[in-house]
Amino acid sequence: MKSKKNSLPNHIAFIMDGNGRWAKKRLMPRTSGHKEGIKTIERLSEKALELGIKYMSYFAFSTENWSRPKSEVDYLLELLEKRLISLSERLQKNDIELIISGDLSIFSDKLLDVFGEAMNSSGSGKGGVANLCLNYGARDEIIRGVNAAVVKGKKVDEESFKELLYTNGIPDPDLLIRTGGEKRLSNFMLYQLAYTELYFCDTLWPDFSNEELLIALENYAKRERRFGGLKQ
Ligand code: FPP
Repeated sequence: MKSKKNSLPNHIAFIMDGNGRWAKKRLMPRTSGHKEGIKTIERLSEKALELGIKYMSYFAFSTENWSRPKSEVDYLLELLEKRLISLSERLQKNDIELIISGDLSIFSDKLLDVFGEAMNSSGSGKGGVANLCLNYGARDEIIRGVNAAVVKGKKVDEESFKELLYTNGIPDPDLLIRTGGEKRLSNFMLYQLAYTELYFCDTLWPDFSNEELLIALENYAKRERRFGGLKQ
């Protein structure tokens, strides 16, 4: 593939880290950091629309997050139940479509109904797509894809394999932003991130401002993506 300079990413994926520390700094329970984090999702999805970025993915709950204290897991599930519809209504106002990806089979029927309603009541996608990753784990996703291919009895190639992933229909991220200071991928989109530009910052997720997004975009615009080719 040809090398190219990038102006704007088509798809940004976020690892939203730092909610707990944000709350702790304010002597609040960790859970209030997650509540505050939803506002960042809403704000950034709208900013993406303004800038012309089509896809935004948010890693909201990983396959490993179940090992957190039960009270925190319960709170996160409760937050989904209580706030997902209002998030989707806000996205709908800007015609942003909400997609939920991950292994959803583990969630209760009640929550699955909420997910269905939230996706149905969001926008058509003309204003962009917000992809909320729930009970998402990249290794789990890849193994499922492999097993699905085996069951079909059909060999896959790099492109057709993508259709067996949770992100089917969504282009690979051009830029991954991880807030909260850690520099790792934490089992997020391992297949899709093969040639993604990575951006790490110390800012805690609830504090990640629109200005900071612009800084990340400026940084991205300076990078030369070679996709394994040579500098031209
Ligand atoms: C990581 O911060 C964040 C999470 C595990 C959860 C993110 C979830 C949300 C922002 C809410 C999603 C809900 C809806 C309704 C869309 P952390 O807890 O690991 O923070 P720390 O590193 O400071 O401990």
